[in-house]
Amino acid sequence: MKLNAIELLIHDHHSVRKKLIKLTETSGREKAKQRRLMHDIQTQLTIHRVIEEDIFYPAFKTNGGDEITYFEAKRQHRTVEDFVLPDLLESQGHDAIFARISRQLRRLVEQHADEEEKVMFRQAREKLSKQELHALGSAMQARKKKLEKQYAQNAESSHRR
Ligand SMILES: [Fe+2]
Repeated sequence: MKLNAIELLIHDHHSVRKKLIKLTETSGREKAKQRRLMHDIQTQLTIHRVIEEDIFYPAFKTNGGDEITYFEAKRQHRTVEDFVLPDLLESQGHDAIFARISRQLRRLVEQHADEEEKVMFRQAREKLSKQELHALGSAMQARKKKLEKQYAQNAESSHRR
């Protein structure tokens, strides 16, 4: 399936949203499930951030996309990856805190995805041609595949250690 840049990102948003809902619905007794979900969410968010910041956002900005939207989106990525995710990982085993932080992570990601979909993607549809959006989609898909492979290999080798 060939998706354009926006379809691809919306598809990713949908998938990570579902996982975050699952995470906030797990109980402290489901540690293995929590760990698996957290690992998946962390990997997905990182890959999403890389393809957006390396490929989509620069195209958005150079084609006249709003600068505040651009910087705000990057700042939201930073908040999630540098502050909330590390705290979540650290809170494993402290069920009440873990539940609070996972709800916070879910809210932040939902807000970020909503803003992208309602503001940034709408602008991108106006500023970028269909061909450009398709070319960006293909570039992002290729990068995503590469990163997924890399993460899977890393997970495997850390498993063997
Ligand atoms: Fe994003």
